[in-house]
Amino acid sequence: MFKADLFKGKTFLVTGGGTGLGKTMLDKFLELGADAVICGRRGSVLEETAHEMMGKYQGRRVHTYTCDIKVAPAVEEMIDAIWREVGPLDGLVNNAAGNFISQTKDLSPRGFDAIAGIVFHGSFYVTHACGKRWIAEGRKASVLSILTTWVWTGSPYVVPSAMSKAGVAVMTQSLAVEWGRYGIRLNAIAPGPFPTEGAWARLNPMGENDRYKDRNPMQRVGRHSELANMAAFLMCEEVEYINGEVIAIDGGAGIMGAGTFSNMLGYGEQDWQKIREAIQSTNAADKAKRG
Ligand code: HXC
Repeated sequence: MFKADLFKGKTFLVTGGGTGLGKTMLDKFLELGADAVICGRRGSVLEETAHEMMGKYQGRRVHTYTCDIKVAPAVEEMIDAIWREVGPLDGLVNNAAGNFISQTKDLSPRGFDAIAGIVFHGSFYVTHACGKRWIAEGRKASVLSILTTWVWTGSPYVVPSAMSKAGVAVMTQSLAVEWGRYGIRLNAIAPGPFPTEGAWARLNPMGENDRYKDRNPMQRVGRHSELANMAAFLMCEEVEYINGEVIAIDGGAGIMGAGTFSNMLGYGEQDWQKIREAIQSTNAADKAKRG
């Protein structure tokens, strides 16, 4: 669905790009001609992914930087090194995240900070470090943040993540307005369930894969290629008038619970027959009363 050289000459940074959805997006950007930088806490994982991707896409470059994005000076140091060693970036994907399911009453402040440090603080540190360089250089760029549909609804048992990602959604809107004049645009994707090793171990510890079938209008989880296509679409200059948007890609799951009658999706023909008869008999009784 994209032309082959869409991202030729561009270099994008994908935080947490060594695994999961970050790796999926990295793969797509390279396929479409971009070079990339990936960062994360585990150097060996980054190296392995870079090696795999450069083997898959001959001629493409994937640079790796070991960095814990919740540490502001480490982020500044990394972005400085990227600009010096790789060159200026053309885009950033705030993908790195941390999350686990827990009853909120059982969370310790350090547990909260572990998530907020990566998602809330880390996303800002990286965006800010890139943004101020882009502005100083008069360089156009695109920032894409990976959120969840909880930014609109909240969610029990993942409060630090929901709060932090909602903060990044507001950062997206705020900076879209503040930095639009510099040609820097910010958008976000709010994915529903896309199985990855990291997230599934922490968010689906009971292995309830069918739960997503019943609770999704499309009756399935997301396919990685769908998310990668959305990310590529939002990163390309051909749609640069999209600015400050948070776009769900969840099969409609995020709005499903809000429909008053969504529970009726489980009804069969017999149930609907009963419903028709009950309503018809109520209507007939009303008519009889009116004469
Ligand atoms: C309660 C927990 C906990 C748990 C950790 N903590 N796991 N508390 N229940 N399951 C607490 C610890 O007890 C400790 O507090 C504090 O958190 C810090 O733990 P550390 O292990 O020292 O921290 P750290 O090494 O930084 O680990 C961070 C992490 C870890 C987030 C906790 O899981 C991680 O690195 N995850 C990265 C990958 C990931 O999470 N991917 C999923 C992203 S999915 P105390 O007080 O005991 O010292 C996502 C959205 C998906 O973001 C949306 C799907 C719809």
